[in-house]
Amino acid sequence: NWTMKNYIDDQIQSIKEKVGDKKVLCALSGGVDSSVAAVLVHKAIGDNLTCVFVDHGLLRKDEGDWVEEIFKNQFQINFIRVNAKDRFLGKLAGVSDPERKRKIIGEEFIRLFEEEAKKLGKIDFLVQGTLYPDIIESGTETASVIKSHHNVGGLPEDMEFDLIEPFKFLFKDEVRAVGTELGLPEEIVWRQPFPGPGLAVRVLGEITEEKLEIVREADAIVRDEIKNAGLDREIWQYFAVLPGIKSVGVMGDERTYAHTVGIRAITSSDAMTADWARIPFEVLEKMSRRIVNEVEGVNRIVYDITSKPPATVEWE
Ligand code: XMP
Repeated sequence: NWTMKNYIDDQIQSIKEKVGDKKVLCALSGGVDSSVAAVLVHKAIGDNLTCVFVDHGLLRKDEGDWVEEIFKNQFQINFIRVNAKDRFLGKLAGVSDPERKRKIIGEEFIRLFEEEAKKLGKIDFLVQGTLYPDIIESGTETASVIKSHHNVGGLPEDMEFDLIEPFKFLFKDEVRAVGTELGLPEEIVWRQPFPGPGLAVRVLGEITEEKLEIVREADAIVRDEIKNAGLDREIWQYFAVLPGIKSVGVMGDERTYAHTVGIRAITSSDAMTADWARIPFEVLEKMSRRIVNEVEGVNRIVYDITSKPPATVEWE
């Protein structure tokens, strides 16, 4: 696409001029916006860019390794992975309130990011994957409250950086087009949104390693089957949740008492409103059978048939 290529060339040129040989930092989440921004900035300034990827231990199955493989090995970007699972789970121990979980994770995330930034010495610029709608939205107070609540990787207030925001005038679909043009894999360009606090808000109530493991394995199966059914671009978000309910079941001659897993899948254009996805019964059937057979500690599967409103996308 001629226009897109021009846009990219212009951005690369202006980032080059702006940065010179100064240092740039990017908080990479593996989501569409930060990933495409990182690759674009890397194209402009190469090794003067460093990406910091905080693995809080609340990511989806194999996600951390996968992000590392793409950015560090495939794109050869300076990539720092901070493995901080124990630190996050330690802070979250005994916490069951959803907003407290978010706050703890958000604060810890910023603290870790600052620690890494300090180790790198003088940094002049920070890359942000801000989109045009983010800028319009933050015009009103309500919207900025919603934003700060949803954006875990917020800017540390006392850190002085100039911002590089290459997508400030783009919409999501245009960022995807930039990503495709830059050669990012489809799995990144078409990634479903994933909340900053990750699986912490998909294990309802108190988080334990055991519960995380169940929801992570169940989620991998949900994603796998959505992909196999070719529904991954149609459905806005699709995932598993662990409500923390145990119920009675039967396996062979034995009575079981094990977890219920909830499957959530929605169609939407912005997540402000959403409809529950009419996944074909055969696909649901396959997910249900696989989760019960493959994930230990689960004996019942339910499908969430509420739209937003009155429900939210996430269960917490
Ligand atoms: P809800 O559950 O509020 O979700 O209907 C709307 C959209 O926002 C995502 N979401 C979050 N994203 N941090 C994030 O970065 C959060 O704490 C958070 N909570 C919800 C959700 O996945 C959906 O896309």
